[in-house]
Amino acid sequence: MGKEISQAVIRRMPRYYRYLGDLLDEGVERISSNELSEKMKVTASQIRQDLNNFGGFGQQGYGYNVQYLYDEIGRILGLEQQHNIIIIGAGNLGQALANYSKFEKLGFIIIGLFDINPKLKGQAPRGIPVMMLEELEDFASSHKIDIAALTMPKYTADSIANRLAGLGIRAIWNFAHVDLDLMDKNVVVENVHLSDSLMQLSYNMLQSRNE
Ligand code: NAI
Repeated sequence: MGKEISQAVIRRMPRYYRYLGDLLDEGVERISSNELSEKMKVTASQIRQDLNNFGGFGQQGYGYNVQYLYDEIGRILGLEQQHNIIIIGAGNLGQALANYSKFEKLGFIIIGLFDINPKLKGQAPRGIPVMMLEELEDFASSHKIDIAALTMPKYTADSIANRLAGLGIRAIWNFAHVDLDLMDKNVVVENVHLSDSLMQLSYNMLQSRNE
């Protein structure tokens, strides 16, 4: 384990990773913090500070080696290993996630959806099977599951999250609009609330109108 990095820095890492990936696609081999700063609209000193957390990777007068930095940030974010995901709730949102193939490029593989609606049994968006919730334990005993996405109604979220934790699933990607009450404190949770982002946008619209 390396030294602990602040969550604020970690929150910025995926964006660096995306930009560096784009640079690689464009065939760029190295880049200075000033150039990266212009592209990303982040100050060069912020970039230097952030990347110094990982040993810097930059050399005076040379800039950053894009491939090296990309690989290193990917390693820090744990992207060099594959993560298997299951989705609980195969409704609109669950199926939309399953239908999005680009997560795979990052090593996130959706291996199954679970629902309680028997009409959905046998469906398979992008070939990913929809199973019934009562099949979860069997499935978990024969598959490695790293992450569970919760895309079912929020009133069921706590009991399902605790059931998943009981199956040894250590990470929850929570879309249900509720703060999970997990008995096992070792389970990590990432909440995604698009409506929070919309409300933030609405606030910023008000501000810009009032300027
Ligand atoms: P939906 O009604 O299309 O799908 C919900 C699915 O969950 C249905 O197929 C239903 O049969 C299933 N379900 C119900 N109880 C279940 C249980 N105990 N176990 C497994 N599956 C169960 O709803 P939609 O639009 O897909 O939304 C799903 C959830 O995601 C809702 O809680 C909604 O509030 C939330 N949501 C969150 C967003 C976010 O940004 N975090 C954005 C959109 C929706």
